[in-house]
Amino acid sequence: MKNRHLTRITVFTLSVILFQLLLVGKSFSQSNEGNTDESKVPAYTLPDPLILANGKAVTNAKMWWKLRRPEIMALFEENVYGKTPQKKLPVTFSVASIDHNALGGKAIRKEVIAYFTATKTGPQMTILLYLPKHHSKPVPVFVGLNFDGNHTISADSGISMTKSWIAKDKPLPRGASAKQWQVERILERGYGLATIYCGDLDPDFNDGFQNGIHPLFYKPNQTKPEPDEWGTVGAWAWGLSRALDYFETDHDINAKKVAVMGHSRLGKAAVWAGASDQRFAMVISNESGCGGAALSKRIYGETVKIINDKFPHWFCGNFKKYNDNEVALPVDQHELIALIAPRPIYIASAIEDQWSDPLGEFLSGLYASPVYKLLGTDGLAASVMPDVNKPIMSTISYHIRPGKHDVTSYDWDRYLDFADKYLTNK
Ligand code: GCU
Repeated sequence: MKNRHLTRITVFTLSVILFQLLLVGKSFSQSNEGNTDESKVPAYTLPDPLILANGKAVTNAKMWWKLRRPEIMALFEENVYGKTPQKKLPVTFSVASIDHNALGGKAIRKEVIAYFTATKTGPQMTILLYLPKHHSKPVPVFVGLNFDGNHTISADSGISMTKSWIAKDKPLPRGASAKQWQVERILERGYGLATIYCGDLDPDFNDGFQNGIHPLFYKPNQTKPEPDEWGTVGAWAWGLSRALDYFETDHDINAKKVAVMGHSRLGKAAVWAGASDQRFAMVISNESGCGGAALSKRIYGETVKIINDKFPHWFCGNFKKYNDNEVALPVDQHELIALIAPRPIYIASAIEDQWSDPLGEFLSGLYASPVYKLLGTDGLAASVMPDVNKPIMSTISYHIRPGKHDVTSYDWDRYLDFADKYLTNK
């Protein structure tokens, strides 16, 4: 045990787990792979986000910003997501369509193409944007990647069909994921929504990093990222930052009030984007699980080995070193949440989504809390996991709802309340 902070964390973890066992009363077993038995979670020690690599305690905000935050950032870049290349591409934006009377006159719909090369060839991304029509501008905006194409997020026939990598010949129908996006509800509450098909940035399969944006950054003779360079999650996060670059040029949008949101694998990208790009004013993690909000060292639900075996392209090559070896990880995901401090983050779980390790997601928020407090906020206003449908509203917010791995209207209502309180101070 390196120091007394670590002891405190371990003891606290054990008591939270015991409490959970009493609360939930049983363990969930919904998968053949991965542990979903709380009693089999090993004893583990988390790195303390407020202890420097040299063992000294971080006692003030200046030490956090100057010393500890860069250390943690470097560890995530080196070991988990990989480094995002610093090279600046000649990105240009072009408004491809605009409709001032979308959704029965409730919205302005724009499609903006971001070209990543001067010749406008190669990968490009289309930002689909809905802005509420009858609200004063500039508006705050939620931005998130979608899984299957922009046309799946609403039945609105004005959205261009996206060519999907996965469903090339049989794209999903318009509005197939509309329930997960709740466009009209978001607009009614005075927010805009922007979304991008994740495959515009990097297709979600192991293509050896040939089809997405990675080759635009290769050095001469390079054919794939180095072990400490970015994978697909890193590329997705990069795209979210380019969308934010666009928002800064659009006078209808308040680029200082942008919440980056994502579900599941795209939640991993949203949290990494929020950590890497401090212009994002708020972050929403919807069931982002392993490699997102959930602690890796708990080894509950999806593990580092399972995720790397199934999705070898998501993280950097170095992350494979921690297959069945989470104990050696020099960081854990509570420190990813800490990188977002003091900006508000909402972490959400679902009771039937044990694969994402709800308790591990909650604990990440809890163990990031000391950093939030050091920076003058309330952090997470709970010390034990709340019951279902009892959201904790604080700068780090959390809820667990009944049901499966999904984004529901219940989730969105909470995010909108959260944004009213912490983004727009309504
Ligand atoms: C799989 C994967 C998860 C991921 C999820 C999703 O279940 O194991 O890590 O979050 O897909 O993206 O829906």
